[in-house]
Amino acid sequence: YVIGVDLGTSAVKILLVDKQGAVVKSVSKAYPLIQERTGYSEQNPQDWVDGTTSGLVELLKDFDGDVRDIEGISFSGQMHGLVLLDENNEVLRPAILWNDTRTTAQCQQIYEAVGEERLLQITKNPALEGFTLPKILWVKQFEPEIFSKAKAFVLPKDYLRYKMTGRLQMELSDAAGTLLLDVSKKEWSTELCELLELDPALCQPLVYSHEEVGTVTAEFAAASGLAESTRVFAGGADNACGAIGAGILEDGKTLCSIGTSGVVLSYEANDDKDFGGKVHYFNHGAPDAFYTMGVTLAAGYSLSWFKETFAPDESFDGLLGEIGTVPAGSNGLLFTPYLVGERTPHADAAIRASFIGMDSSHQRKDFARAVLEGITFSLNESIELFRQNGKGIDLIVSIGGGAQNEDWLQMQADIFNAKIVRLTTEQGPGMGAAMLAAYGCQWFDSLKACADAFLQEDKEFQPNEEAVAAYRKLFAIYQNVYGQTKELNK
Ligand code: XUL
Repeated sequence: YVIGVDLGTSAVKILLVDKQGAVVKSVSKAYPLIQERTGYSEQNPQDWVDGTTSGLVELLKDFDGDVRDIEGISFSGQMHGLVLLDENNEVLRPAILWNDTRTTAQCQQIYEAVGEERLLQITKNPALEGFTLPKILWVKQFEPEIFSKAKAFVLPKDYLRYKMTGRLQMELSDAAGTLLLDVSKKEWSTELCELLELDPALCQPLVYSHEEVGTVTAEFAAASGLAESTRVFAGGADNACGAIGAGILEDGKTLCSIGTSGVVLSYEANDDKDFGGKVHYFNHGAPDAFYTMGVTLAAGYSLSWFKETFAPDESFDGLLGEIGTVPAGSNGLLFTPYLVGERTPHADAAIRASFIGMDSSHQRKDFARAVLEGITFSLNESIELFRQNGKGIDLIVSIGGGAQNEDWLQMQADIFNAKIVRLTTEQGPGMGAAMLAAYGCQWFDSLKACADAFLQEDKEFQPNEEAVAAYRKLFAIYQNVYGQTKELNK
């Protein structure tokens, strides 16, 4: 067996996986988010450790084999969260999370000190509030006493792994989201540290996702029920692990994952493309590979907002049951999903959503379909950016809420103009983490071989030519709405 630990923002989900890739048991433990002021989002790292420990106890409670048969454990982690440690590796303040937006001024400071072009050359990404570096600069500026004690910073799952093994390292796919990594060279950027007056010693030794970093300490074994012999592998960023867990491990393969927010993520063998920072460009959990990623902030959230506001007593199935009877284009109704701003491609926190083209004959089902089309158009903006930069998008594996409805899956095929694949079971990033442990334990000689053994396709959706043509026209109109409405809420 192996264990995959998915350290998320609302909960930790732990999967026990056998040699065939079947999930034998899974356990989830929730922990709170601390939101003391608007835009602040923090968590107590000890809650991650406690949740994982008690989750493991529950997972192993009625395990009828020998715990030593659990050969390895690995992790998927919420990205970008800043965990600051003192000289004894004690946590100095609550972690500042990926969805904390207090750092707009620090992003500006990074551009002023480094220059936009140089930042892109080194990190392949723009300065965004969610990333780790601006959070470090915020603590340095506003909490100088705490900062003066800081000797190391790590990311959420790296801290959890430290508590399991006693060894402090930073894993590469997650380090890519700090904005301090030279993504091509796979090393910390001393140039960025110098320009921003940060001690490079804050940055911890880098390890690959499948790399074995040690075994479980006696203390953690006693608390969790794991055996001390359990091998611990570094793990990856949740998006990298989500990709691994959906088999996005070769060129041409792309993931569409729709939860509260939506992500399209595409495998990238090389680091040589230039997206000008419009999409994220990070190191993959597969050794030496990369991925590009676009994010729609309000994806599933747009649908739940619509349901809560206009059909609170309806189920999602009831709300979406009739959308198949509405033609592509929702009878002239168009929705842009900017309810909480947008990340890709506009990186605009102030933009807001719109319905346009309303007719007195429109019914709720037209609106429901338009919401799904708008979410999918937004994700297609990222797909278009991938294509414009020479990427082939042949096959998209769809997971999450967007894969629950067959009309929506067909819509994705028609709007993305690509074959969509649904998997038989999907376990998300936790499965990617388990696969990293399986590969680390040498059950397979590559992650791809592990994916071939663990994951099965359920159904394919092919683009329909007529719908593709109709959507192409509408997408051009959709793309104009942003420019026409961006001053509305300023
Ligand atoms: C990625 C990002 C989120 C977090 C969620 O850039 O901010 O997807 O990784 O955990």
